[in-house]
Amino acid sequence: MQTLNDIRSTFLSYFKNQGHEVVASSPLVPRNDPTLMFANSGMVQFKNLFTGVETRAYSRASTSQKCVRAGGKHNDLDNVGMTARHLTFFEMLGNFSFGDYFKEQAIPYAWEVLTKELHIPKEKLLVTVYHTDDEAARIWKEVVGLPEDRIIRIATDDNFWRMGPTGPCGPCTEIFYDHGEHIWGGPPGSPEEDGDRFIEIWNVVFMQDEQFDDGTTKPLPMQSIDTGMGLERISSLLQGTNNVFETDLMRALVEASADATSTGTEHSVITHHRVIADHLRSTSFLMADGVMPSNDGRGYVLRRIMRRAMRHAHLLGAKDPLMHQLVPALVRQMGAAYPELGQAQSMIEQTLLQEETRFKQTLERGLKLLDDEIGALPDGAALPGATAFKLYDTYGFPLDLTQDALREQGRGVDTDGFDIAMAEQKAKARAAWSGSGEAADATIWFDVADEHGATDFLGYDTEVAEGVVLAIVSDGKKTDALEKVGDAAWVVFNQTPFYAESGGQVGDHGYVRIVEGTHEVSETRFSGHVSDVQKRGGGLFAHYVTVDTGRLDVGDAVQLAVTHDRRTAIRANHSATHLLHEALRETLGDHVAQRGSLNAEDRLRFDFSHSSALSPEQLAKVEADVNRYIRQNAPVETRIMTPDDAREMGAQALFGEKYGDEVRVVSMGHKAGSGKGASGDTYSLELCGGTHVRQTGDIGAFVTLGDSASSAGVRRIEALTGAAAMEHLRTQDQRLAAVALDLKAQPADVPERVRSLMEERRALAGEVAQLRRALAMAGGGGTATPEARDVGGTAFMAQVLAGVTGRDLPALVDQFKEKLGSGAVLLIAEADGKAAVAAGVTQDLTGALSAVDMVKAAVAALGGKGGGGRPDMAQGGAKDATQADAAIAAVETILKG
Ligand code: ALA
Repeated sequence: MQTLNDIRSTFLSYFKNQGHEVVASSPLVPRNDPTLMFANSGMVQFKNLFTGVETRAYSRASTSQKCVRAGGKHNDLDNVGMTARHLTFFEMLGNFSFGDYFKEQAIPYAWEVLTKELHIPKEKLLVTVYHTDDEAARIWKEVVGLPEDRIIRIATDDNFWRMGPTGPCGPCTEIFYDHGEHIWGGPPGSPEEDGDRFIEIWNVVFMQDEQFDDGTTKPLPMQSIDTGMGLERISSLLQGTNNVFETDLMRALVEASADATSTGTEHSVITHHRVIADHLRSTSFLMADGVMPSNDGRGYVLRRIMRRAMRHAHLLGAKDPLMHQLVPALVRQMGAAYPELGQAQSMIEQTLLQEETRFKQTLERGLKLLDDEIGALPDGAALPGATAFKLYDTYGFPLDLTQDALREQGRGVDTDGFDIAMAEQKAKARAAWSGSGEAADATIWFDVADEHGATDFLGYDTEVAEGVVLAIVSDGKKTDALEKVGDAAWVVFNQTPFYAESGGQVGDHGYVRIVEGTHEVSETRFSGHVSDVQKRGGGLFAHYVTVDTGRLDVGDAVQLAVTHDRRTAIRANHSATHLLHEALRETLGDHVAQRGSLNAEDRLRFDFSHSSALSPEQLAKVEADVNRYIRQNAPVETRIMTPDDAREMGAQALFGEKYGDEVRVVSMGHKAGSGKGASGDTYSLELCGGTHVRQTGDIGAFVTLGDSASSAGVRRIEALTGAAAMEHLRTQDQRLAAVALDLKAQPADVPERVRSLMEERRALAGEVAQLRRALAMAGGGGTATPEARDVGGTAFMAQVLAGVTGRDLPALVDQFKEKLGSGAVLLIAEADGKAAVAAGVTQDLTGALSAVDMVKAAVAALGGKGGGGRPDMAQGGAKDATQADAAIAAVETILKG
């Protein structure tokens, strides 16, 4: 038997041998198509190659593309498990030509793969072509040799493939398999075509036109090929069944579910296992591609699928959470073809476990409520919308889960009533918001959110994406367009890679563009730059866009790109902040809690509770710790969980912060000596919505710029990472080198040299003071002769000194007193624009004369105030010494009595 994995390999190897590049499946969340919720066919990742906007090194490619059809336009969710063919997750095999080969080659390739590689008997196959496509019909007949009665012309859109309302399109030929007369059904185009006898297995599209908004089409610059064959469907056929759940891969998952629940695979339970098997694949692959359960957008589609599977597990009587137990079986089946699945395995298991544990708490009560309500309803009556809403709002039952449960009983839900109840709740939320004193334009944002839903943030996984302009708000009013260069306004897109400022992390910068034409002749119809992104009510991201060229209208599909270098630096700073937080807790104690933070592109700032300055040793340890975890290069992991679960795991939460009913937990690093990955050994674990590096090593380096006081009991550390840290260290180094050059020393000897220079300086200062005093004693620098005069019977010596400071005066006064033996001394020193005064009276005269009085009189004469000391020695000061003569005269007056 050819297994599903064999068939995939056969297909890809065949096209590889025909010169095709085997390209990996693109992620399930399309990067280049704003209108698609999930990748739903192989050509999605090549859209721009068909239109000619982009070229690559290859012109032929082959893929096995992951596809999800749940939510959005193509929604197969309701049919899963009920029919033999519907899946929410499937793989599409395809070969592509971008202006290389066309019909004459694509048709024989498909024929050869089916009949030679996969050994399908020729007589079992028939084809359809578009009614006007004579060329395709001719190739089937003449080149392949298919009899004319097995080439059916179809005039409907079934044989004209369109990606969507806009984009590349063209006629197609579809290949059908005839299961034989024993199964009911007719060939395509016949009234019985919906039967199961004739099954479409491969669609080969001849891409030749591009469709535009206004309904017109234009020929593409080149003719291309896009084909799609469902792997599960072709496998079921090759494995002799007409049910995709009977293929080897799906059966293994069904059996895993039966084993884990000990329920067998009898008819009564098989539907439950099939739903679980399918939903296990779609939910696991979505999570591996970065979608996390949430209450909006893609995350909500994921949650809906999960919860549906969980209800079926419950119906199987599973006591414990089931889904996470099945992930190993899935990884065994598909991990080789899709390595991302294995890489994300533990995250997928934990998320499923947490989601199921949580949902179980309300599932049973919700089902009971549902049973009670149904019991009271007449046969066949629809469930009232209000009840469905209560199940949604209080018990976490997505509407389709309720519908799924009722379908088994042949009942529906009054969806209009559900919508009304939902609208009422939104109105209440809006009233609460506008009453909270937020900006007056808040209602505008709620209008936008009501109409379009919350913005889908793609920026955890990508920095570029396409988006559709949903609203433009300028000066608090909605407008239809940004028309002139220089105009600026807040713009909301349906999805965005731009991070909106929150949790201390600044908003992203980047550009918005509309490029038209082909790779060779392209024209930028609009270009603008984003300089700020803020969150608005209703889960919207508002981008502040300024027009650089062209005009932007509501409804435009645009390319959005975040400035990569800036985001990279912000990521590094944010992740380093988490490591810093933990390093501080380990160094200073558990009282350290975050009080504020800034994660900008040029630096990080972290405020935390701690009452004293960090010692140089503590700061050095913190810095060394952070750098050690950077070098550990551990992966940074994120999970979604309830705040309680997160706290229980030991996550650092912001005190007093209000968290929603689910939080994102970011963990990084594992403590030395611990086994990798065990959550108990995780180094840093924080509730955080920010964007982070993939591995701690991406931070590069970490340098603190020191610690300072932020407010009472709160310290602040500023730090640099990556290139900025290196730049800082380099600058420090250059400064040191410059100092060393001046000192004529080696940089390593600078501290010693500076210390000895300081000592030398201190010694010299002492010497200079002594010399000054000696000079003054010798009469040098003075303006008066140091001769004693008799004033009122007292020997009096007065002198004005230049170049001597106030501090030198007491020693000089003493020396003069000694010289006099008995008498009074007055010294006035002039230095640095200030006058210092000192007076002395020899001990024998202190009974009659006070130095304090003398100083006070002198200071007053100099225009100053005060002065004081002891009777034998006093000091004071004044602004300037120009009135020195008057000061001496004032003292003489005192001496004269
Ligand atoms: N893109 C084509 C399809 O999805 C092949 O059917």
